[in-house]
Amino acid sequence: MIIAMAADHGGFELKNKVKEHLREQKDENGENYKIVDLGTNSPESVDYPVYGKMCAEAVASGKAQLGLVFCGSGIGISIAANRVKGVRCALVHSVELARLAKQHNNANMLAMGGRFTDPDLALEMVDAWLSEKFEGGRHERRIAMLEK
Ligand code: RB5
Repeated sequence: MIIAMAADHGGFELKNKVKEHLREQKDENGENYKIVDLGTNSPESVDYPVYGKMCAEAVASGKAQLGLVFCGSGIGISIAANRVKGVRCALVHSVELARLAKQHNNANMLAMGGRFTDPDLALEMVDAWLSEKFEGGRHERRIAMLEK
């Protein structure tokens, strides 16, 4: 499974922490995740709309199956990602929300705030999201409505 990742200067440290963690995890087929890191990789100020869009387009185009985005609060970059058709990006703050993002919304991207998220919690949220299954049923109809 290919996971695209991107961040602005407020989120790049958390992105890199999650990236290192994912490198040690296996996907549902027992294979290593392939990570596509779209930057940024320094504290120099950059614009989150650029990075949110880049990551979302990688997911929407099928170059990656899933995406993870990070900015200072997680808010701006999640808004940017959700502007791309086909993307369902959930800004999460708890393991339960990360689970629900997959179970009910089949979120293909997660967003987190690098300035507001405990790094260990971030890893737990990512693992929960990756291991959960979409429940389908009534939720399938609702996410189909988002695309119309
Ligand atoms: C950058 O300072 C900050 O505004 C950005 O990382 C993010 O929090 C925006 O939503």
